[in-house]
Amino acid sequence: MCGIFGYTGFRNARNVILDCLKKLDYRGYDSAGIGVINKDELKIFKEIGELGLLEKKLPPIDVNIGIGHTRWATHGEVSIKNAHPQVSCNGDIAVVHNGIIENFKKLKEELEEKGHRFISQTDTEVIVHLIEESYKDSLKDAVFSMIKKIKGSYALAVLSTSEPDIIVGARQESPLVVGIGDNENFLTSDITALLKYTNRVIYLEDGEICVLSKNSVDIFNWNGKKIEKEIHIVDWNVEAAEKGGFPHFMLKEIYEQPHSLHQTLRGRISEIERSISFEDKVESLLDSYPKVVSIVACGTSFYAGMIGKYMIEQLSGIPTFLELASEYRYFGVRDKTSLVVAITQSGETADTLGALREAKNSGCNTMVITNVIGSTATRIADAFILTRSGPEIGVAATKTFTSQIVVLFLLALKLSRKTINPDELSRYLSHLRELPRNVRMVLERSEEILKVAEKIKDSKSVFFIGRGVNYPLSLEGALKLKEISYIHAEGFPAGELKHGPFALLTEKTPVIAIVTMDKTYDKMIANIGEVKARHSPVIAIANEKDSEIEKYADYVIRFPSDSNILSCIPIAVILQLLAYHTANLRGCEIDKPRNLAKSVTVE
Ligand code: M6R
Repeated sequence: MCGIFGYTGFRNARNVILDCLKKLDYRGYDSAGIGVINKDELKIFKEIGELGLLEKKLPPIDVNIGIGHTRWATHGEVSIKNAHPQVSCNGDIAVVHNGIIENFKKLKEELEEKGHRFISQTDTEVIVHLIEESYKDSLKDAVFSMIKKIKGSYALAVLSTSEPDIIVGARQESPLVVGIGDNENFLTSDITALLKYTNRVIYLEDGEICVLSKNSVDIFNWNGKKIEKEIHIVDWNVEAAEKGGFPHFMLKEIYEQPHSLHQTLRGRISEIERSISFEDKVESLLDSYPKVVSIVACGTSFYAGMIGKYMIEQLSGIPTFLELASEYRYFGVRDKTSLVVAITQSGETADTLGALREAKNSGCNTMVITNVIGSTATRIADAFILTRSGPEIGVAATKTFTSQIVVLFLLALKLSRKTINPDELSRYLSHLRELPRNVRMVLERSEEILKVAEKIKDSKSVFFIGRGVNYPLSLEGALKLKEISYIHAEGFPAGELKHGPFALLTEKTPVIAIVTMDKTYDKMIANIGEVKARHSPVIAIANEKDSEIEKYADYVIRFPSDSNILSCIPIAVILQLLAYHTANLRGCEIDKPRNLAKSVTVE
């Protein structure tokens, strides 16, 4: 996956593109490049590594149109040749691309036979040669002819010296948004990049092509017919997308959770009426009780889904299946009576979109829980619920994870409206209300968590264990730690250690045990005893009312609140802070961990 950007207008295009690419580099940061038209000549600048290196290399240049790219390598190593823009043989056409062209090998052979010279190992390069091959007098027509030949996913921005005042964009299964300004227009993979300049956007659909000039935006459908599209107003502000004084986006986003959780709940629960309400389309999907719920997601969203499965089954009794989106696409059982719930922060994860499409094509009712309005997932699913967490820039998902869990809990309560009594519902609603305060209390303990991070920072391997919803939390705690600190970490159901993983335990393997005061408490204490018998240090994450735990664990981090299913939210925040502090002590690149990108728009 990559980030693409295009600008045409009255400002200096070099500066605008660099500025906006900085907001997109979470999508990839192996290399970056920009292409501009200067006095009817195409100028390309590329650099390996982070964007700052490209910025240093770029001379000041007075131009008003250009395209830019941040790369996350898929085809071809990280090199200047493979960085985008990719350029045609005659040096007149430049393309930036996010996605994968599946039939590029065959196309490349055909183009080479026709005399085209390829200089990169990328799949993208076929795009620019195909446009060159079919260009007669219209860049738009050449792009149309090219997209009929390629198979796969793409968001593209194309520039040509033959028509130096326009940028042509095209979209298929990769996000692409047009930003509308006054005397200027933009093209971007993600609206956060635009917010400083405009909040008016048009979301392109699959198969659509756009032609931008300084004063006009024309959109065409797959058949070449000009179409009118709605202009949406985005209500995220610029500050929300900046670091706001925190050293890293991840830390800022962890600290935003009291607010983001409040936003997730806003207007959705009424303690007076003892009710939960969603937007109309969601309500009508939930009107008839599904026989079965299937949850599909990837990564952190998958772990939120795993917690959701516990919640839905325990509260409503509705059987709930959980599948990795990448597996569901090919092997999932698609029963028409099921409600398929996709969870995706970005709304653009290719595997999740694929699963959603499969489910929809099979006649299932589909719903998506996402953070990004207008994302592809919101347009595929029958209904969507927004997590309303605000933009999440750090590659590690934090605030969106806790908001996803809250939405799933609301969904579980809604699905159990026939089985749950009003007093129980009231109790759950008041637990929900307490969440922002409980999270604030955890944030105040950040220094304590830092001290524990100092104890694990030099470990080669860390285990996380828990039971019930604390098992998916263990998986998420391990994922957070490994992705940003590069320490090997694994999450296990506490009862499973004895079936194999014990073999890995030494006195140098810290075990983080999540212990809640519920029916699994005694078993967890026994599991901690087994770990101690192998001389591994135990760090317990425990309820502040637990007066026994100190007897068993070497260190204890406390979370507030009674033990109830929603304790998983403050515990998640502890795990996030633990991963953050550990990575920070190790001097890691926290917001942009190596080899990863924020949204994975390739399969
Ligand atoms: O945007 P999505 O929620 O669909 O992304 C899915 C995963 O790529 C994502 O949750 C990933 O695991 C996290 N960034 C890890 O912190």
